[in-house]
Amino acid sequence: MNEDKVRLSFLGLGYVGLTTAACFASRDFKVLCFDVDKFKVEIVRSGKVPFFEPGLEELVKASVERGTLKALEGSREAILGSDITFITVGTPAKEDGSIDLTYVKEASKIIGEALHDKRGWHLVVVKSTVVPTTTEKVVGRTVEKCSGKLAGRDFGLCANPEFLREGNAVEDTFKPDRIVIGESDRRSGDVLEELYRKFYGENIPPIVRTTPVNAELIKYANNAFLATKVSFMNMIASLCQKLPGADVEAIAEGIGLDKRIGPLFLEAGIGWGGSCFPKDLKALVNFSQKMEVDLPIIEATLKVNETQPYKIVELAKELVGGLENRRISVLGLSFKPETDDMRYAVSIKVVNRLLEEGAKVIAYDPKAVPNARKIFGESIEYANSVEECLKGSECALIVTEWSAFKSLKPEDFIRLMKIPAVVDGRRIYDAKLFSSKLRFAAIGFGEKRYYNPALAVNAIIYKDKSVLLVKRGVEPFKGLWSLPGGFVEYDETVEEALAREVEEETGLKVRPERILGVYSNPTRSPVKHAITICYTCIMLGGELKPSDECVEAKFFTLNSLPREMAFDHKKIVEDFISQEC
Ligand code: UGA
Repeated sequence: MNEDKVRLSFLGLGYVGLTTAACFASRDFKVLCFDVDKFKVEIVRSGKVPFFEPGLEELVKASVERGTLKALEGSREAILGSDITFITVGTPAKEDGSIDLTYVKEASKIIGEALHDKRGWHLVVVKSTVVPTTTEKVVGRTVEKCSGKLAGRDFGLCANPEFLREGNAVEDTFKPDRIVIGESDRRSGDVLEELYRKFYGENIPPIVRTTPVNAELIKYANNAFLATKVSFMNMIASLCQKLPGADVEAIAEGIGLDKRIGPLFLEAGIGWGGSCFPKDLKALVNFSQKMEVDLPIIEATLKVNETQPYKIVELAKELVGGLENRRISVLGLSFKPETDDMRYAVSIKVVNRLLEEGAKVIAYDPKAVPNARKIFGESIEYANSVEECLKGSECALIVTEWSAFKSLKPEDFIRLMKIPAVVDGRRIYDAKLFSSKLRFAAIGFGEKRYYNPALAVNAIIYKDKSVLLVKRGVEPFKGLWSLPGGFVEYDETVEEALAREVEEETGLKVRPERILGVYSNPTRSPVKHAITICYTCIMLGGELKPSDECVEAKFFTLNSLPREMAFDHKKIVEDFISQEC
């Protein structure tokens, strides 16, 4: 093999295959690529990319135009026209969580059949994520069988896992932290190292040379460790949420400065998703079970992630009360920003739970709507902009941290929404600022105040059975004020919070110790409820009379309720009014 003119082929045009192929081609390596999906081949041929990945289309287009990147319809042609073949096919999860090696086996077979007719040495590199021993036992043996040749003598074999992230794939390929080469024999490792040395030149990252089985396990351990870091922080976030004054962001900053821990992947949120972590962790657990080894830490990591998405829905319920028939905005659908990938996206669980709760969901995502439609169909509405998504909404959930959402200010939510209420599932906002301006909750944010919809009261009942009706601006109770839900400080009782809110709102002094209870039902007409509570109070034998506070404030007295505004509660009101108050 003339290594100055080493030619590459890639089988599989997903994120890993196409990105790596395009990066090599952009540095003038001759790259042939193939995918069983003819549609993908055609797209790449026309200089385009079959999915959204920042910066990739420019590379593909330029390389296709220069002729360094060619997508072929025949795999044999690609393999025989190259010196090194990378297997970059998908390794999805089977129903039971185990790895599905169908595509890897198919690729190995077509490589073997092609190599059968090749004279010289060829290097086969497994870049797909595969469970330990796959490179040698599945790929190596299949190629040997189909080619009639011997690994380590007639062809070389390496496991060379990939660590690029979706959304950052191009940058990660040009600037990786390290390269892992799991070689079945020395020559194979030397040739692959040489290829990378040519590709990176002076900027070559550290290279780890090891056995194929170690390389395979490095990839799984890497993803499992990263996912564990995130689940760990999500666990701490749950604690913070219940702890007045605690904030997971401060915890992440504090521990991230410890060099032994490091600051990355400590961002708490509503869980991890995507095409890698979920399937890889499950595959690792499944593989280990077959080896009769328990992986309790990884099982716990998966367990935390199982329920984490539902936390945002619980926070929304605490913030605005029941979600039935409420218009709820979901900002972000893709599993992370800068991708249109919906595979194992956390949004799927969030949206489905919202629908189960009876909410009317409207969602916006800058890129993922076409893929999301395939999942949610017409069960939700899709907005064309952030503004459209928020307009008239009663609660907004931040599900994916797209930069377009980060720039929103509390005033934007207040201006657009019917009830300005935000649940930040990705910690993109200044939680202190937002919680001082609108109804706000966030994962891992145990603010001193919490929003209590019980303060959306219609009436305050005093111990002496007098009642203070509470409603502002709705005729006929003109001049009365409302408490549309409010904030309770952690060191005060609900009665104290009520008294404080009443005073803040009206200047009126209410003594908390006099309050027997409140009547509240924020999801139904407060006017009707105010009337009903007064009636109930009478039926209970209460001596219904206007409270001192009402009188002092020159608010209405109960017998001034106008009959004609009583809607279907006419009878109740008539009875009510006939009472001596
Ligand atoms: C992951 C790894 O990071 C890559 O190194 C690996 O190559 C890739 O899997 C793979 O196996 O192919 P990726 O799934 O593209 O990459 O995305 P990540 O950036 O790792 O994010 C995964 C999930 O974790 C996302 O849902 C993200 O929102 C979540 N995450 C990440 C957090 O919730 N908090 C964090 O601090 C970081």
